[in-house]
Amino acid sequence: MPRGVFITLEGLDGSGKTTQIKRLAAWLTRRGQEPVVLRQPGGTPTSDRIREILLDSRSAPLHPMTEAALMFAARAQAIAEIIRPALDAGKIVVCDRFTDSTEAYQGGGRQLGSAAILDLHRLICGGLQPDITLLLLPGFEASLARARHRNLRVEAETGRNENRFEVEQDAFYRRVWEKYREIAAREPDRVVLIEGDLSIDEVHEQIVEAVAERLLAKV
Ligand code: TYD
Repeated sequence: MPRGVFITLEGLDGSGKTTQIKRLAAWLTRRGQEPVVLRQPGGTPTSDRIREILLDSRSAPLHPMTEAALMFAARAQAIAEIIRPALDAGKIVVCDRFTDSTEAYQGGGRQLGSAAILDLHRLICGGLQPDITLLLLPGFEASLARARHRNLRVEAETGRNENRFEVEQDAFYRRVWEKYREIAAREPDRVVLIEGDLSIDEVHEQIVEAVAERLLAKV
């Protein structure tokens, strides 16, 4: 069986990834595919439990290496349980965040550096790479404001506090942002950078164009 297609979406909190993933999944479904959609950290019961530890404000202070290790622990389980089996079965996997997030947030934001994260990736994920990564980088200020607003709303509606990352300072997000740009420049064949303050429809158009252009033969 040919290997399936592995698509990841990346970006700062508040970049509109969730909306775009839903639209991309619907587009793939209309083309007769049955995409497997998951998010990280998460995707399996164990990975979701690790996610709770990672995002809960009560986990602070969490050492950056603990944070990175837990991200990879959740990822290893998702790869073993969901991603590898789906790809082996020739399916399309759409993943909301993957190792680029760890490189950007823990490598850049928490300043662990790229080398440590890429070493862990080789060791723990067997170097599994997405076929295509859609990196959404709308205006920095707009993303941050959206992320913070969303978090307050979710907390008011559900009582859940998942804002351990959103309370970080602008300087942290600047480093994340810069690391994302560095990754895009380093791996232009894999990473499609979608920047600027585009409408939801415009971003969707760019996403499907990139997916169709690069993966049409496989999809
Ligand atoms: P989530 O609520 O899923 O945010 P979003 O919808 O913006 O993706 O929270 C995931 C948070 O975890 C987000 O702030 C980014 C962070 N993160 C890392 O720091 N490292 C990682 O490897 C991953 C996968 C996520």
